[in-house]
Amino acid sequence: MASQGGEWTLLLFCFSFVWETVPWKINRNATEPTPVVIWHGMGDSCCNPLSMGFIKKLVEQEIPGIYVLSLEIGNTIAEDMENSFFMNVNDQVNLVCNILSKDKKLVNGYNAMGFSQGGQFLRAVAQRCPSPAMVNLITFGGQHQGVYGLPHCPGVSSHICNWIRKMLNLGAYSSPIQEHLVQAEYWHDPLNEDLYRNKSIFLADINQERGVNESYKNNLMKLKKFVMVKFSNDTMVDPVASEWFGFYKAGQAKDTYDLQESVLYQEDRLGLKAMDKARKLEFLTTNGDHLQFSKEWFINNIVPYLK
Ligand SMILES: *[C@@H]1O[C@H](CO)[C@@H](O)[C@H](O)[C@H]1NC(C)=O
Ligand SMILES: *[C@@H]1O[C@H](CO)[C@@H](O)[C@H](O)[C@H]1NC(C)=O
Ligand SMILES: *[C@@H]1O[C@H](CO)[C@@H](O)[C@H](O)[C@H]1NC(C)=O
Repeated sequence: MASQGGEWTLLLFCFSFVWETVPWKINRNATEPTPVVIWHGMGDSCCNPLSMGFIKKLVEQEIPGIYVLSLEIGNTIAEDMENSFFMNVNDQVNLVCNILSKDKKLVNGYNAMGFSQGGQFLRAVAQRCPSPAMVNLITFGGQHQGVYGLPHCPGVSSHICNWIRKMLNLGAYSSPIQEHLVQAEYWHDPLNEDLYRNKSIFLADINQERGVNESYKNNLMKLKKFVMVKFSNDTMVDPVASEWFGFYKAGQAKDTYDLQESVLYQEDRLGLKAMDKARKLEFLTTNGDHLQFSKEWFINNIVPYLK
């Protein structure tokens, strides 16, 4: 009997030895949920229990065992919030690319969820930093064609916004303001398209306004799905069409065009037309103001993209 037990042990040992060394062991990881990376919006932070903290928890509840990384831009919550107004977006994107490339849990790819300006920032990550691979990109009220107005600001930051509005009026496209003011870097003035095209250091670059960077296009097209959520009653984003890549027609600030009517799409400068034809673009609408949605709506409409 004793030797039988010994055989069993040996057998188990051999089995686990084989299990640990064979190449198909990799299959075990394939059943692990794809991690999620979150980038918060203006005046928010990685970890506010009422915003990103809530979303992180909700995703963890819905998809047990998932790794969720809510990006913190800076070393403290206060810095993280401050940077959402004052840290050059190109530097922020570099920083995030660096964080993602060093995170071992992301080597097999990740899904990305960007809230408000975090949406266009994560799109820049997809376009500039193909490794690790972004699988699905979901933007909530993102401003893919920028904004022409800052009607109001979230939470406690209204005094900061008043100051920012002043700066934007002073000269959104002057280089000191471009270098240091996040909202100027996606400021899109339809009355001065030329100036925007020439001077915007962030949005005009990622939207291929000055030239076509083929790697931006190829990288974006690697996404499996690009989901854009628009809030039909959004009072913070001007114009709301920007959440689906539309914008004011040049020379006025009233009528808007859709993505499909834009030069960006028609010349397919960013791969969006090809992605649309391949059914990789998803346009979702929800009622409600900026970033206002119910837990049920999120579970029914967003969680499936994360599974
Ligand atoms: C295109 O984008 C890549 C990735 O950000 C960058 O390294 C490269 O310099 C860009 N090319 C041009 C011509 O701007
Ligand atoms: C934008 O750049 C182009 C090409 O360099 C130039 O011809 C044009 O005058 C510039 N426009 C503005 C408003 O800066
Ligand atoms: C927007 O909000 C107002 C006020 O709450 C409401 O009456 C209206 O139906 C909403 N519109 C949409 C499109 O959700």
